[in-house]
Amino acid sequence: MTMKLAVIGYPLGQSKSPVIYNHWIEKYGVDAVYGPLEIAPDTFESRIRSMIDEGYGGFNITIPYKEKIIPLCAELDDTARAIGAVNTVKITDGKLFGTNTDAYGFIQNLKEETGKTDFKGKAVVLGAGGAARAVVYALKQENFDEVLILNRTRERADIIARDMDAGTDEWEKRNELLADTTLLVNTTSLGMTGQPPLDIDVSALPADAVVYDIVYKPLMTDLLKDAKNKGNQIVTGIGMLLNQARPAFELWTGIAPDMEPALRDELLK
Ligand SMILES: NC(=O)c1ccc[n+]([C@@H]2O[C@H](COP(=O)([O-])OP(=O)(O)OC[C@H]3O[C@@H](n4cnc5c(N)ncnc54)[C@H](OP(=O)(O)O)[C@@H]3O)[C@@H](O)[C@H]2O)c1
Repeated sequence: MTMKLAVIGYPLGQSKSPVIYNHWIEKYGVDAVYGPLEIAPDTFESRIRSMIDEGYGGFNITIPYKEKIIPLCAELDDTARAIGAVNTVKITDGKLFGTNTDAYGFIQNLKEETGKTDFKGKAVVLGAGGAARAVVYALKQENFDEVLILNRTRERADIIARDMDAGTDEWEKRNELLADTTLLVNTTSLGMTGQPPLDIDVSALPADAVVYDIVYKPLMTDLLKDAKNKGNQIVTGIGMLLNQARPAFELWTGIAPDMEPALRDELLK
């Protein structure tokens, strides 16, 4: 029977997920269909239940449902529980299993782009939204001596820091705090097309620091341009998007898809 898969969210306007999964469905000849499914908040629960009845095999979850799906899951893995959000669900015998592949996607991209597997020193994370939770979780799994979260709304940073044993400081001190940083990550929406710019001066960053922006539209954000001009190694956000999709596809189909430059190019169109 053809496996039905989807990405759910509200609104769903710009999701790149159908491009990624349909590329792999075609490439590997999987008998499956993957499409966008916008679900209005007032019908959320009933629509999920009808997806089970309609025989869906699984789905991805994007804003604003990554937390709201949790009570509907019969089982969560450790990663989803620790992050407090689910981005991938597999449905088996009418029961939802929830996981979170964002942290894997984030760290795998960092490792692939830098060629490093062992990290030390201080990681500074800008932002404390949904993506930041997965990023801080992933960084805490590595060997960083310190993970520091800076967010405009300090309370949101404090909550993640408390949950994940990280540190926080004032958003206003972001320029000076870069002096002894080995990894700077932007997880705010600043610098994204249609959003205000990220106001940061990277001149205090050590020469060997890596700068990673998870915003991928545009691919080269002003932060990455500034860091590159200064001679720092940079990591763009598109590889995180692809790497978080790989374990989801494998969970549903048993196939671990390859990373292909052609798909990367297609996503950037
Ligand atoms: N590459 C990938 O695979 C990937 C995956 C997930 C997300 N992303 C990207 O990551 C970005 C954030 O996503 P999200 O889901 O975490 O969003 P979110 O939950 O809405 O969080 C937005 C963050 O940006 C901050 N922010 C927004 N406007 C600001 C401003 N004017 N000044 C200072 N801070 C501001 C917010 O601070 P406050 O708490 O103070 O509001 C918050 O920390 C988006 O651009 C998204 O596309 C990329």
